[in-house]
Amino acid sequence: MSANEQQNAVSSKVDFLDAAFIRNPYPVYAEARKQDPVTRILLPNGEFAWVVTTFEDVTAVLTDARFATSLSHEKALLEDVPPHKAIVYRNLSSVDPADHRRLRRLVQKAFTPRMVEGLRGRIEDIASGLIDRIEEKGEMKLIDDFAFPLPINVICEMLGVPSEDQNLFREWSDTIMEGVHHPELAEKSDQTLIDFVEYLKRLVARKRSDLRDDLISELIRVEDQGDTLTEHELYAMVFVLIVAGHETTVNLIGNGILALLEHPDQKELLQNNPELIRSAIEEILRYDGPVEVTNARWATEDLILQGKHIKKGDMVFTALSSANRDQLLFPEPDRFDITRDVNNHLAFGKGVHFCLGAPLARLEGEIAISMLLRRLPNLRLKTDRGNMDWRRGMIIRGLKEIPLLF
Ligand code: HEM
Repeated sequence: MSANEQQNAVSSKVDFLDAAFIRNPYPVYAEARKQDPVTRILLPNGEFAWVVTTFEDVTAVLTDARFATSLSHEKALLEDVPPHKAIVYRNLSSVDPADHRRLRRLVQKAFTPRMVEGLRGRIEDIASGLIDRIEEKGEMKLIDDFAFPLPINVICEMLGVPSEDQNLFREWSDTIMEGVHHPELAEKSDQTLIDFVEYLKRLVARKRSDLRDDLISELIRVEDQGDTLTEHELYAMVFVLIVAGHETTVNLIGNGILALLEHPDQKELLQNNPELIRSAIEEILRYDGPVEVTNARWATEDLILQGKHIKKGDMVFTALSSANRDQLLFPEPDRFDITRDVNNHLAFGKGVHFCLGAPLARLEGEIAISMLLRRLPNLRLKTDRGNMDWRRGMIIRGLKEIPLLF
């Protein structure tokens, strides 16, 4: 293949529409890391993009300011941005560095490990209440009965969102996440964004007239005091906290329980040594983390990465799931080992957009998985993974449902 052909060759294997790839992308990523570490792909919506697969390159891209997440670099959106999209797309994860620092500072203090540790008792109560409901049944749907309600309850309580509205978010955020770069689902996703934004407007208006001791009220107070948060920024912040605050943790619990049940020796080890839960959570995040690729980055100038010419305006995705199986960093990367000393995985990203909710996600994961194994010690899969459906979409990695017996 000539250098030019190699530069423009599109991977037929890294295919976010292909059911086999979605089910198990790891062998494809392993080959890409060896043969073509900066892979050119065709997105489901027909656009070209780059996918970066090695630990070193993923780290480099996420910490290099020449790769921006900001909306102003997204060509497609610049041309014609529907107002509801413009509002929520300008959230913490996709704003220019100056705005990013200001917005992140405003919410950071609610998510420090110390503040989050204060939620432990409440998270345990919610988890325990969910298990009470199914304990007598002998079987459960892990996602519906437990993994979804736990984090959505927690983030909604933190924000001060009424509990009766929580179910709306599941469908809304599932649809929105699945619609990312996916043409068939884009229309439904756009309509859902409109409904979500309209809901946020009503919610903020209600809160404004009844300020309480919750995060949305706190953000409104900040806005009133120093003109530091515009009305649209407030909607965008609540949006990103609701979506990021549960979509991912659901799949930390789901992918984690799946990995443990498929590796009975590791499950038993954890049941006999509950103090291993912290390293177990880190290994779950490394082995099968909930965020497969990060949000898109846009190259702000022409540059070369692993011999590939990335042009200004090109879209670049970093495959965290691939970086976390890079054998240069993690010996025997495909082995699930809860005693592994992993302190450098990239499941929460890297650089300025490093996950704001990491301490909360870790605590929720620890409580959820420890409690499931303690209270339902005979937990087992009702069917094998071949009979379960994976979620569509390129960002989130997780099963739609995991039926369990106990
Ligand atoms: C296991 C669960 C979670 C995982 C694996 C995860 C992963 C990530 C990753 C990879 C990013 C960076 C994305 C990028 O660079 O494009 C991120 C950002 C973010 N996450 Fe999480 N997340 C989790 C849970 C949470 C929770 C519980 C919250 C709660 C509020 C949260 C809030 C956020 C926010 C607000 C950002 C954007 C931060 C910024 O741009 O400054 N996440 N998360």
